[in-house]
Formats: sequence, structure tokens, C-alpha cells
Amino acid sequence: SVNTGLSQLSSLKSNLATMVVNTKELETQVRDRLVQLYKQTPCMPIMVRIAWHDAGTYDVNTNTGGVNGSVRFDVEQKHKANAGLKVALDLLAPIKKDFPDIGYADLFQLASVVAIEYAGGPKIPFRMGRRDAEGPEKCPEEGRLPDAEHKLPQLRKVFYRMGLNDKELTVLSGGHTLGRAHKDRSGFEGPWTKTPLVFDNSYFVEILKEKPDPQLLRLASDLALLDDPQTRKLVEEYASNKDLFFEDYAQAHKKLSELGAVWV
Ligand code: HEM
Repeated sequence: SVNTGLSQLSSLKSNLATMVVNTKELETQVRDRLVQLYKQTPCMPIMVRIAWHDAGTYDVNTNTGGVNGSVRFDVEQKHKANAGLKVALDLLAPIKKDFPDIGYADLFQLASVVAIEYAGGPKIPFRMGRRDAEGPEKCPEEGRLPDAEHKLPQLRKVFYRMGLNDKELTVLSGGHTLGRAHKDRSGFEGPWTKTPLVFDNSYFVEILKEKPDPQLLRLASDLALLDDPQTRKLVEEYASNKDLFFEDYAQAHKKLSELGAVWV
């Protein structure tokens, strides 16, 4: 009857409302736990790196790879580019255990945006609901992430494959304002800036210096941004205008955090 139909519709609506409240509540609770973790262990940089490595395998042409949590599987952990990411998985394991309803894909991306915010960076709009790859058969083949020896043409090829453009390539490289390289992971050593736990625009300031600070790291892929007049101009703008960097970064990072997402 019409009445049963209406009452079913109304209970469906209230179920949906509860789901929304619960997802929002789940996000809030996991955010709190991440902040506690960062207070105890300043592991913000590796959280940004694990999220980027889950996302950065996206191939817009085949719609494969991207933010599906597949970087948690052994096969993908063993890719050379992912050396050391087990540290991030181990730090997140207790949170995943206490909040089994959050998927890995969401957990990695949320850990990254909370890390950037906690380190003084911009607030990045965040949406929950990425569907996880259930098994390692969804892992992309090795070699989709950029390499530290890449110059601009190769970096472009990789970022265009993700569906990202020159501006996004340049602004997202500013992620290296956080963290450092480790000899036993990538073979490189040291931070890009003097404040590797602060998210600011100092990465761009440092790579523009004619005399590099001997304590700091510059990869070929970092200096490659100076090879083209347009990407160089962006580097100069970001070095002199932190607000502009934050604005463009937040937009590009949101896009990165949703590459290839299948929404539940
Ligand atoms: C670290 C390469 C882009 C975020 C590293 C390391 C390398 C690297 C070699 C050192 C890993 C280690 O030894 O621990 C590259 C290349 C890129 C790129 C070739 C091409 C453009 C990005 C992007 C982001 C990012 C787009 C974020 C939006 C980070 C962070 C670390 C890092 C936060 C520090 C990790 C830590 O301190 O443990 N990257 N990266 N990178 N990368 Fe990138």
C-alpha cells in the first residue's frame, strides 16, 4: 500500500541520516587519534608519503591504481619506491584496529591531510568513502611513481598519466617541505629544508638558492622544476607568496587524494 511504501521510505531516510552522522563521527574520532599520534611521534612526513604513494599510481587512461589502499599489500610494499613505508603502516595499525570501519584508503588520505594541518599547512577539504582494494591483485605494476633522477620530461609523463598538469606537478612537489630522505630507504639522505616538521613554502625558497645549503637535500627531480620557464615562474611565486602556495596546494592535494577513488 501507499502507507507501507511511505513508512519504508521514511525509515530508509533515517538510516541514511544515521550513516552520514556515523561517517562524520568516525572521521572526527580518527582525526583525534591521528593528532594524538603526531603529538607523541612526529611522523607527519611519512604519512604524507604513504598517502601520495597510494594515490600516485593512478593511470587515467586505464582507470587503474590510485587511492584504494593497495599500498598496504606486501607486493606493493616491495616496490623500490615504497622502501620504508612499513613504518607508516605499523604506526597506523593500532588506529585501524580501534576503528575497523574506516578503510585503508581513507585512513591513509586522512592521516596525510591531518599531518599537513598539524604541521601548520593548509586545511585540505576531505571526503570519506573510498572503497578499498580487497586483495593484492589490484596492486599496480611496479614503476608508476616518479624517480628521484627524473628530469622534467619524465616527471611530466608520470603526472600527466595521473591526470595532473604542470601546475599540480609543481605545487605538489612542495610536499618535500616536510620530511627527509633516508640512506637505507631511497639511498638519499637529509631534509629539503631546515624545518622538516613544518609545512611552509621553504622548499621553494631553498631550491631557488644559487648556493645550496650543504646540509640540505635537492634531488634532480626537485631542480627539474627550474628547467621550464612556466614551472620556474610558479616556483618563484610560491617562494615569495606562502598564501598562494597554500591555496594552490590544498586544491591540488584534494585532487591527488581522490585519484581513481571508487566511492562507497
Ligand atoms: C620523500 C622522491 C613527489 C612527499 C621522498 C624521497 C624520495 C622522493 C626519493 C626520500 C624517501 C626516503 O628515503 O625516505 C620524490 C619524487 C617526486 C616526489 C621523485 C616527484 C615529483 C612527492 C610528492 C609528495 C611527496 C608529490 C607529496 C605531495 C614526500 C614526503 C617525503 C618524501 C613527505 C618525506 C618522507 C619522510 O620523511 O619519511 N620523495 N617525491 N613527494 N616525499 Fe617525495
